[in-house]
Amino acid sequence: MREIDIKELETKELYQYLTSSITPRPIALVSTINEKGGSNLSPYSFFNVFSIRPPILIFSPVNRTIDNTKKDTLINISKNKECVIGLVTENIAQQVSLASSNFPSEDDEFMKAGLSKQRATAVSPSLIKDSPINFECKVNSIIELGQEGGSGNLVICEVLKIHIDEKLFDSQNNIDPLKLKIVSRLGGSWYGKTNQESLYKMSKPISKIGIGFDHLPVNIKNSSILSGADLAALASVEKIPNKKNTTSIEKNTKEKHILAKKLISEGEIKSAWQELL
Ligand SMILES: Cc1cc2nc3c(=O)[nH]c(=O)nc-3n(C[C@H](O)[C@H](O)[C@H](O)COP(=O)(O)O)c2cc1C
Repeated sequence: MREIDIKELETKELYQYLTSSITPRPIALVSTINEKGGSNLSPYSFFNVFSIRPPILIFSPVNRTIDNTKKDTLINISKNKECVIGLVTENIAQQVSLASSNFPSEDDEFMKAGLSKQRATAVSPSLIKDSPINFECKVNSIIELGQEGGSGNLVICEVLKIHIDEKLFDSQNNIDPLKLKIVSRLGGSWYGKTNQESLYKMSKPISKIGIGFDHLPVNIKNSSILSGADLAALASVEKIPNKKNTTSIEKNTKEKHILAKKLISEGEIKSAWQELL
């Protein structure tokens, strides 16, 4: 393990460690207006949702490391207290990257990045027409996290309106991640796609309380074959099932654990338990 003392790090190195570790991050494409009414558009991956009611999104423009100046988005928002946050999908990711260039404040970054505006209904900055999900927000507060280059400024946004492309919904009225195709930011120049290959479903014990690892029989918990994920699946049952009387071929412990592992991978948790009991 590499142990890193923060005091010995340059801001550049700290940035590298933090942004390559805390991954993947969603990207907010933030639309604001300057004092003259001109549009500004920039991506921010220090971004997430932090409250449902009130609906709160937070993103953080950090002070420029070169000269400790504030980014245009922050300057605009400090005065105007409004923004639109669009989500970044595969089809617009390259244009979003272009929008992150340090264009002069007076340049319209929608034009620079070849993205289209649409009038918002509750706030003055424009919606990003090319993004399938837009949030119209008022800025409740800005929290400065430091005074130097690299210091973040938490922009706490309350969502007033949400715009979602109808095409994204599945038959249950949920947003289908395979239709959304959201793009995420990782370290350096790495980005993540959201497609069939990168997605999987994991059932979780919502309505029932699992027994937990501590209640697994010792021989199962100490198995050299079953992984942590396998044990978690077994520990998700409400109680250890009773052994059913079946006429199956005698197996040794290793064979039982191998078969149980296979059954768990197929989602057959009850059958896996029967093999292990
Ligand atoms: C995908 C992506 C994510 C970014 N995330 C952030 C971020 O979270 N915070 C930040 O300060 N800069 C971030 N940047 C850099 C800003 O977008 C860049 O500094 C931009 O020029 C700021 O524009 P503005 O001065 O018009 O606000 C990101 C850049 C890209 C391409």
